[in-house]
Amino acid sequence: MPVRHLFATPFYEADLADDALLNELAHSCRALAADDAAGRRWCKQHRYPGYTSYASLNDLPLRDPAFADLARKLAPHVRAFTQAAHMDLDRKLKLDSIWVNILKPGGHHSGHIHPLSLVSGTVYVEVPGGASPLRLEDPRLPLLMASPPRTPDAPEEARAHVYAQPKAGSIFLWESWLRHEVPASNARAERISISFNYR
Ligand SMILES: [Fe+2]
Repeated sequence: MPVRHLFATPFYEADLADDALLNELAHSCRALAADDAAGRRWCKQHRYPGYTSYASLNDLPLRDPAFADLARKLAPHVRAFTQAAHMDLDRKLKLDSIWVNILKPGGHHSGHIHPLSLVSGTVYVEVPGGASPLRLEDPRLPLLMASPPRTPDAPEEARAHVYAQPKAGSIFLWESWLRHEVPASNARAERISISFNYR
């Protein structure tokens, strides 16, 4: 077939492969949610369906050794991703922010990008049955205009939205401009994840 598929969007999926660290992180995330009154207040004011430390805590790796361990373990994954994406970098990327998300059953997080960052990602700590996948959006969507929908059997690279299903331990990485969302879930338990930005 004389067709080349151009302008690929890299998306990285790996496994943390460290159950002991995942257990520690689950414990730490729940402890933060219990202790961080400012964060809980922010979640209430902004109708966040659960708890996030995004707006209240910016020092998790200093505060808790489990997050420092996680940051150490993420570094080689981020390096592998930037190499696979052929990024020509003049210095090592730096972990700029890292935060906890505890999403209640039925909770969702609408479509967004992560401004002022280069690589973003999430590590999944607890993923109950029925938890939603991450929905990724073709960044060219606003340009598609009269472009027709794709057939139901279209491969991933031809679709405007692709779903990535995490499990506990999954590490997802993407370039920070890639719009993504967490659709509302049918899960009966909390989904715990840790998101981060590198710049
Ligand atoms: Fe996000």
